[in-house]
Amino acid sequence: MAGTKEESSHPADAGLTTQAAKALHDELARAVAAANRAYFQDDAPVLSDADYDALKRRLVALEARHPQLASAESPAAQIGAAPSETFAKIRHAVRMLSLENAFEDSEITDFDERIRKYLGLGAHAPLAFTAEPKIDGLSLSLRYEQGRLVQAATRGDGETGENVTANARTIADIPDPLQGGDIPAVLEVRGEVYMAHSDFAELNARQQTTGDKIFANPRNAAAGSLRQLDPAITASRPLKFFAYAWGEISRPLADTQSGAIARLRELGFQTNDLTLRAEGPADLLAAYRRIEAGRATLGYDIDGVVYKVDDLALQARLGFRSTTPRWAIAHKFPAELAWTRLEAIDIQVGRTGALSPVARLLPVTVGGVVVSNATLHNEDYIAGRDSKGAAIREAKDIRIGDWVQVYRAGDVIPKIADVDLTRRPADAQPFAFPHLCPECRSDAVREPSDSVRRCTGGMSCPAQAVEKLKHFVSRAAFDIEGLGARQIEMFFDDPILPIREPADIFTLAERDAANPLQKLKNRDGFGERSVTNLFRAIEDRRGIALNRLIFALGIRHVGEAAAQLLANHYLTWQAFEAAMLAARIGEGAEWAELTSINGVGDVMASSVINTFHQGAEREMIDRLIAHLTVEPARPRVVSESPVAGKTVVFTGTLEKMTRAEAKARAEALGARVAGSVSAKTDFLVAGPGAGSKAKAAARLGIRVLDEDAWLALIG
Ligand code: IVH
Repeated sequence: MAGTKEESSHPADAGLTTQAAKALHDELARAVAAANRAYFQDDAPVLSDADYDALKRRLVALEARHPQLASAESPAAQIGAAPSETFAKIRHAVRMLSLENAFEDSEITDFDERIRKYLGLGAHAPLAFTAEPKIDGLSLSLRYEQGRLVQAATRGDGETGENVTANARTIADIPDPLQGGDIPAVLEVRGEVYMAHSDFAELNARQQTTGDKIFANPRNAAAGSLRQLDPAITASRPLKFFAYAWGEISRPLADTQSGAIARLRELGFQTNDLTLRAEGPADLLAAYRRIEAGRATLGYDIDGVVYKVDDLALQARLGFRSTTPRWAIAHKFPAELAWTRLEAIDIQVGRTGALSPVARLLPVTVGGVVVSNATLHNEDYIAGRDSKGAAIREAKDIRIGDWVQVYRAGDVIPKIADVDLTRRPADAQPFAFPHLCPECRSDAVREPSDSVRRCTGGMSCPAQAVEKLKHFVSRAAFDIEGLGARQIEMFFDDPILPIREPADIFTLAERDAANPLQKLKNRDGFGERSVTNLFRAIEDRRGIALNRLIFALGIRHVGEAAAQLLANHYLTWQAFEAAMLAARIGEGAEWAELTSINGVGDVMASSVINTFHQGAEREMIDRLIAHLTVEPARPRVVSESPVAGKTVVFTGTLEKMTRAEAKARAEALGARVAGSVSAKTDFLVAGPGAGSKAKAAARLGIRVLDEDAWLALIG
């Protein structure tokens, strides 16, 4: 039988001297290692499977005969390749989006109505949907070229994911090659990697006996297993995959969502059996109830039902908002609830100085996860009243010692749903919210318009400084492997290698090298390899994308999406910085330009400008920038579109599409849609009934198109 010891020993290897065996071992080990690298890391196999197996068997047999040659480092002892240091990044050809969430039935009828309105469909025109379980795993994009799997990427931030191709190849549900005929030359299949309950229980039992990490839930286990640097570990984990969507595709799979799912199944993918086609909201809600009723016996976690418009031509017309499609919605299952006692209220100081009350709870299991903290939002929430004494809806009078009901919705931090006043201890006192920062004793003040009390200590408040640094290294910011929240806490107070501000991260290696006596690698919790990896990860981030840098600065009101907008507008750090330094709040050309960006309001604009005009902040930014090479933004513009960069105004009645659709399509093609005609307008699209705008356009000599001419122009 193939693979038995007898057959696997190479006849010529018998009776070798120790020295000859050693030489042969070196040669075989090198060849196997090279083949592993080629297969797992470079995705370019150099040997056929049969040749590889033969080579590896020969190495194993040789070690069996000469046990002194065996070692943990030998490729005979490993299934895959040595881990690559980090995952390479992959920019998705088509962005990986998330879904709008709904919790109430009424939101589903709203969804149907909104789509009808957008498309200009009457209340009784047919509009079909699909309903399918929302799998609670992590999404993966699989790129096939000529039917072969060439790349697998995690979602990442939606724009850029991690290359996990070698790991994806180990998942049995992922076909390679694709099956059947009529396969598009390029096909990106998207779906969810997940772990079944039984496999999860077995894995955790195994982890327990080996003293390895216990996973909190199947989703974490699936994510941890897919994001393994060593594909051999992924191979040993029972991962599964459901296909439910696609990205780039050279030729459509079908005309409908349901047809496309059927095609994915023919191509060799697992698709979810509970997927069905529904004629309208009533059918969708019935499907939701049925799927919810069967949830406990499915054998894997789902957290809702996803509804999608079935007709792909309508999907295309509906298009996307900034991060979610208009043609789909996730109807989530209600969050799980549990009662427990509020033991204490701690005040945490955030990176913007906000004092956030946190409930410390008697630990309780909610939806398979032990919860011991919950957010209490702000001081008014705990008081149940605003600063003028008016009761706040959703807010509760909460006191230490109370019994509270907690819930988790998705990945967000647990919240309080209810307070049981009948169980309140007789001596429970209203919580006295501090007016001094608990960390640095600076005054904590509240602007009249703000619900949040803030520490005025700035970067001299250690809590603010640490939180700013944690934000700086977080996933959507610098994302430095090996330098997470825990390490930031450690380095912040470190007497030898302190990190007190972002620039210090980039001098860490240099400072360590200059100190021959107390090397980082000799400290507890570090070693040669982890320090090398850390320094390399830091080096890697000297080149940083502009949007990540802007987000990392932790400017109040500037989240990930806003940072992307700013980056896409200013394109380079130099241009952005120069504009912010020249800008004044509420006046001048720079202010006008900043606030003209769709999605940038006065509050955000003021906050950004303030950051660049505060001496201490400015200097900190300068010190940081000195260590970086900022990569210019590469906005996804449809450059071949004839209207990219042009300003368009719509007026009058449009007959082929609604105003909303016309605007969204123009924007998707890179045009700016304005509300009024000015010298900056490039086109006026005028339907019947156009009035003053048409006159203004004529006066300014602006090109006027009717709806058909506009459609012809944009193709
Ligand atoms: S469709 C453009 N269908 O849910 C829309 N997503 O909350 C692409 N998910 O990132 C997603 N089951 O990871 C879709 N049947 C399903 C899904 C599903 C789970 C996940 C997916 C997505 C997230 C959004």
